Amino acid sequence: MPPNTEFRQRGPLEMNDTVMTKPQFDRTVEDLGNIVELGHVNVTVPDQSKAIAFYLMGLGLTRDPYLMAGLENMWVNVGRGQFHLPTRNPPQVVRGTTGLVVPDLEALLHRLEYAKKFLEGTQFSYRQVGNVVETTCPWGNRIRVHGPEPEKFGSLRLGMPYVEFDVPSGTRLDKIAQFYTEILGGIAGVANDDKGPYAWASTSADSKVIYRETSRELPPYDGHHIQITLADFSGPHKKLLERGLIAEESDQHQYRFIDLVDVDTNQPLFQIEHETRSMRHPMFNRTFVNRNPDMNNRNFVPGYEVGVWALA
Ligand SMILES: [Fe+2]
Repeated sequence: MPPNTEFRQRGPLEMNDTVMTKPQFDRTVEDLGNIVELGHVNVTVPDQSKAIAFYLMGLGLTRDPYLMAGLENMWVNVGRGQFHLPTRNPPQVVRGTTGLVVPDLEALLHRLEYAKKFLEGTQFSYRQVGNVVETTCPWGNRIRVHGPEPEKFGSLRLGMPYVEFDVPSGTRLDKIAQFYTEILGGIAGVANDDKGPYAWASTSADSKVIYRETSRELPPYDGHHIQITLADFSGPHKKLLERGLIAEESDQHQYRFIDLVDVDTNQPLFQIEHETRSMRHPMFNRTFVNRNPDMNNRNFVPGYEVGVWALA
């Protein structure tokens, strides 16, 4: 088809076609705020063979082939995010649930069933609940796996759309949202769903952190962390520094903080270490290798080895 055929068939542009058309898009939906990446969730694991059985064989994720390719750590790609799994005792457990999207839940269930024999005697479990699969890692981390749900997760078909933290009953959710907006410059708020109220903060175009009250007793914070990237890196640093909240000045491109605080009183609300990076960090926006976990040596077709993180 020659270029501009459609235009020529429609004839000359009329005023109503484009110029005078009323706005019909909510442009705020496109805003990212200051937090542009949820890079990884980091938990220590005591045994890499069990981590391989769960994260690679069971969940069907892909080991980072370039970095941490030995026995002292494993980085695991999930679309455009990662799990970081340093080898260490005791294991760390996120006080909450990490949400994943994978392309095919049926295939996931088959993989988890197969992985079971390698994970006997651990806390590993999985069960289908409605349209999600609730899994538990060998050391108790809860991971909820969704299939692609365009209404909820847009075009995501492989990724980590949220980390949902359990916070003690009575925690001021509005104050958590205020911390993300006023200290970090993020987009955040308080909302309601069928499970009740929650605080949320956007952490990229396709991810968020969520804070939800629980009546369950929470274990003491064990030092696990998440990693985010900020566009304005120094502004939040200055505010955190003034409040005495910087936990580590890691290097030129990175600092860490642990306490989320009430902006008005500086009293702690919840602890979760945020490894905080700038967009100049050499690893920002890395391209990750994601495999198609349904491919094996028997059904191999050249060109279909690669998993895709977005719907076509
Ligand atoms: Fe990290």
